[in-house]
Amino acid sequence: MTDQPDCCLPDEGAAPSRRDFIKGVIASGVAVSSVAYVQTTWAQSAPGRAAGVDRLLTLNVNGQARRVDVLPNETLAMTLRYKLGLTGTKLACDRAECGACTVLVDGVALYACSTLTHRVRGRQITTVEGLEGPSGELHPVQRAFIDELGPQCGFCTPGQVMAAVALLKDNPNPTREEARQALAGNLCRCGAYDHYLNGVMRAARES
Ligand code: FES
Ligand code: FES
Repeated sequence: MTDQPDCCLPDEGAAPSRRDFIKGVIASGVAVSSVAYVQTTWAQSAPGRAAGVDRLLTLNVNGQARRVDVLPNETLAMTLRYKLGLTGTKLACDRAECGACTVLVDGVALYACSTLTHRVRGRQITTVEGLEGPSGELHPVQRAFIDELGPQCGFCTPGQVMAAVALLKDNPNPTREEARQALAGNLCRCGAYDHYLNGVMRAARES
């Protein structure tokens, strides 16, 4: 559709111009912002409860009960990083595309950026910090990734680790193709995919 000068705008009731459309978007954006502001203000003024949801939750994270105040629309990634200080869980796309935020919920790999914290009440949540052994030793997958030079910039590494841990828990001896499939939801801007796959296969051999 092309833009039309105002002098040639169609009569009322005809299709709106792009200028009208943009005006509408700006107007509705303001309206949405206002609603969000009102809701946020209301939620902040009513600690403990908002929108009919109990906000004070006890989450089981890395084997510990953690009490935390959670907004109704808060994602697990936000809670872990900004309320519980578990910054090993990375946030990149924040829309279920890259896998940087992968954590385990009852042993299953999930994107924390796309999981509401309220939905994981009573579940066992494991972040990359929870893989540490009793004496601070690395998990076999982490050791294998280092040995195979997986991390380049390292930003995607926690997510790759968690996806690999979930795979090896269910399938201790995967084929390379199975490992590729399991890590397919974890993007690596540095392109270290083969290194990570080598790491999964090494961890499977050495565990
Ligand atoms: S940050 Fe969650 S998938 Fe990208
Ligand atoms: S190591 Fe840099 S994004 Fe994967």
